[in-house]
Parts: sequence; C-alpha cells; structure tokens
Amino acid sequence: MQFDWKAVWDRKAGDEPGDQYVVSGFEHFNNIDTEAIAHHLCRLCKIESGHSILEIGCGGGLLGRHLSSQFEYVGTDYSAKMVQRAIELNRFSAVRTDADNIIFKDKSFDHVFAFGVFHYFPDYEYAKRAISEMERVARKTVCISDITAESKEPMHLLYTEDFFPGYQISSQFYERPERRFTATRYLE
Ligand SMILES: C[S@@+](CC[C@H](N)C(=O)[O-])C[C@H]1O[C@@H](n2cnc3c(N)ncnc32)[C@H](O)[C@@H]1O
Repeated sequence: MQFDWKAVWDRKAGDEPGDQYVVSGFEHFNNIDTEAIAHHLCRLCKIESGHSILEIGCGGGLLGRHLSSQFEYVGTDYSAKMVQRAIELNRFSAVRTDADNIIFKDKSFDHVFAFGVFHYFPDYEYAKRAISEMERVARKTVCISDITAESKEPMHLLYTEDFFPGYQISSQFYERPERRFTATRYLE
C-alpha cells in the first residue's frame, strides 16, 4: 500500500503546534534563509515587478510570504487544511488544487513554481502530469526546486536530472547533506 503523505500534511496543517517551518515540514532546517531563497528564485526566473506567480504545494508559505508582499502571488496545495493554515498565517490568496490537475486555465500566470513538493508524489507518471500542468498554466517560466536526488527518507520519490528534458538544471537553493537540485524551463 502507498504511504499516505496527504495525511501527514493534513496533520501538520491542522493539529500540529509550531511555527511556519514545522507546518511546512522544514523543522530540521529551521535556520534556512527563506527570504534569500525567494530572491534566488526571482533572479533565476527573471521575476519582475507586475509579474504573477503561482506556487504548487505552498505549504505554510515559507517562500510565499516573501513573494506575496512584492508580486501578484497565489498559493495552492492539495491539502484543504494546509490552504486554510497558509491563509491564516500569511493572509495571501491560496486555493486547493492537485498538482496533476491544476484548476487554472492555460497561461494564467507568468511564473509557476514548486519548492520541496515533487518527492511527495505517488509515482513518476503523476510527476509527469504535474510538469505538464505547470507548463500549461505558465506563460514565462516553470521552476521546480528542492528536487530530491538523494534522501534518507525511504518514502521519498527520487529523481535524476534527465527526468526534466528541456529544463536547465542548477544547484539547490540551500545547504543540506543529501543532494537536491533545481530544474527551470524558460517558455519564451
Ligand atoms: C515541504 S512542503 C512545501 C513547502 C512550501 N513550498 C513552502 O515554501 O513553505 C510540501 C507541500 O506540498 C504539498 N503537496 C504534496 N503533494 C502535493 C500534490 N500532489 N499536489 C499539491 N500539493 C502537494 C503538501 O501538502 C505540502 O504542503
């Protein structure tokens, strides 16, 4: 039987006390500079004033809180409880949607990104559908970051760079012992 990650995220969002790092699953990395990561993402994707951003798997909003103060930002998550918690914590706009079936119409946002989400997907077919959905709703860039190449957690789905053809591969946005990477596609 498949591991139920959704139950984990519902619990983190709904019942677990703690700060935003705990809600977002970064309790062991609660010293990472999320503002610097948000800046790095903006530079990589060439995000400029007036651009719109959609985040897939916004969690408690560790990155969204920085982006929503400067850009037109919408968070999404498949956990309705997480969406509710993200809105309470950050006061940004967020909606419930699955990564492989995004509710927005084609080319709705300039930039679409996911940070720390793809290793929770059930399988590689799901991941391919998610990539295709992210490309469908984006106008300028799709960025997938914090992709697990290695993990101590056996339930994580692992990826190699060649899973992302047409994407520019770069390093992870913060230090951690196991290797992770970033894949960016420029659509125009
Ligand atoms: C590690 S957290 C992401 C942290 C977030 N990017 C931040 O900056 O705070 C992973 C999030 O992805 C969401 N998620 C996992 N699988 C998903 C899926 N198939 N569709 C949409 N969201 C998903 C989880 O509910 C969780 O909130």
